[in-house]
Amino acid sequence: MNNISLIGFMGSGKTTIGKRISEIKNLAFYDIDAMIVDEAQKSIADIFDEFGEAHFRLLETNMIKSLKSVKNAVISCGGGAALFDENIRILREISTVVYLQASVDKILANLESLENEDTRPLLLGSEPKAKVERILKIRKPIYMKSCHISVDVTKFNVDEAALKLLGLLERL
Ligand code: S3P
Repeated sequence: MNNISLIGFMGSGKTTIGKRISEIKNLAFYDIDAMIVDEAQKSIADIFDEFGEAHFRLLETNMIKSLKSVKNAVISCGGGAALFDENIRILREISTVVYLQASVDKILANLESLENEDTRPLLLGSEPKAKVERILKIRKPIYMKSCHISVDVTKFNVDEAALKLLGLLERL
């Protein structure tokens, strides 16, 4: 098995760190959110608005299914992908599943520099910190039980996190 899947909360660095790992190891890179947007020709916020979250989740599962035969790849998953057993079953079958952990403050700092309007409808509105804390509390145990390994990237920049993760994977 030569694939790595990254799961974890929005803004924990799955896309940036995943891309960096794919460059270092010369692996293909698949970003589930970006693939959904490409195929639907709509932003995630528009998909949520027009068809509802449940429809987005169907698209997400279908996209994960479409990767069943990829090899030598890094797969960056949306933060909600791990909440569905079918997704996790497939991801664990085809890859080593890594949970990227980050503190609430790091997540908020990362999110500030990202385009949340289009991609993260769940975090729009007031009190983002309270929202992140509330959702993360519910999801953390799910991320923990879904992953093969977890790595806390709170104190690392993108390069350091990529190298740390690759080091852990080598020791598996
Ligand atoms: C979601 C996370 C987003 C995106 C969608 C839903 C979630 O992906 O899939 O907005 O439920 O956590 P990122 O984790 O890449 O932000």
